[in-house]
Amino acid sequence: MDYITTNNTQVPRLGFGTYKLTGDQCADAVEEAIFVGYRHLDTAEMYKNEEAVATGLRRAGVDRGDLFITTKVWMDNLSPDGLRRSLDGSLERLDTDYVDLWLIHWPNPAYPLQESLATMRQLQQEGKVRSLGVSNFPSNLFRQAASLAPVVCNQVEYHPYLSQRNVLAAAREHGAFVTAYAPIARGNVQDDPVLKEIGAKYDKTPAQVALRWLIQQSDVAAIPKSGRPERIRENFNIFDFALSEEEMNRINSLARGERLIVSMSGLPWDEE
Ligand SMILES: NC(=O)c1ccc[n+]([C@@H]2O[C@H](COP(=O)([O-])OP(=O)(O)OC[C@H]3O[C@@H](n4cnc5c(N)ncnc54)[C@H](OP(=O)(O)O)[C@@H]3O)[C@@H](O)[C@H]2O)c1
Repeated sequence: MDYITTNNTQVPRLGFGTYKLTGDQCADAVEEAIFVGYRHLDTAEMYKNEEAVATGLRRAGVDRGDLFITTKVWMDNLSPDGLRRSLDGSLERLDTDYVDLWLIHWPNPAYPLQESLATMRQLQQEGKVRSLGVSNFPSNLFRQAASLAPVVCNQVEYHPYLSQRNVLAAAREHGAFVTAYAPIARGNVQDDPVLKEIGAKYDKTPAQVALRWLIQQSDVAAIPKSGRPERIRENFNIFDFALSEEEMNRINSLARGERLIVSMSGLPWDEE
């Protein structure tokens, strides 16, 4: 596993996404993911699967200290009371005393960012959170957040069809990292001729090439989701090859401003 070091923490560059997985299917997938080697898990109060994630982790029997758990507060819960209640609920459902990374799931202009981040900082100082971050923040709003609190991460849609150059630049300016969600473009990469051609050289699938391209970039982590054991394994199996600079550039040139996730915040995205 490769790691990003931030805030004195090692963040595994490859994590396991859990959106749309619930109940037994989620617990089984998380248990399988741990068995395969994933140690970074991504969930959210909105996914309604934090208890199932905890069940999978319990079954897998791995030490809490070896895990990196991210969860997110929903955009309606950004008041001081709402934040505290949200985090306490997540901790209870996840059956843990702390989360490694806690994100604002979507920006919400109805709540002053400064006040939300001050409460999050307080909860961090109480030991309930190791690191703070945001998700779906356009680059300028990210800069504002990072000037108000030690925000280490912006989790955004990022795959070969979306460059996210502005979001990446803003994160790097502040020593933060970007977590790529929908990293295999929700499965759309699997028929890509360029990714297929590059993959053929290394005996890798297009999804593996896309994930390798992400984690080979500085300050980038990726969190593919799958509910199928064979794909959970496939997506993890990306640490035994490396893309050349030319191949990295070829994949960079696939960017075409394609967004799969509709904004919940109403704020404009960065230009691509
Ligand atoms: N912060 C946010 O607002 C936000 C938004 C979206 C997602 N996320 C996080 O990011 C994670 C990943 O994003 P995502 O789930 O939207 O998309 P994704 O990981 O890019 O794609 C998941 C889809 O691709 C399929 N798939 C998985 N591995 C594959 C492979 N090797 N080849 C072909 N198809 C494959 C999966 O189907 P099977 O399950 O059938 O394999 C699923 O339909 C989420 O689970 C969630 O944790 C965060």
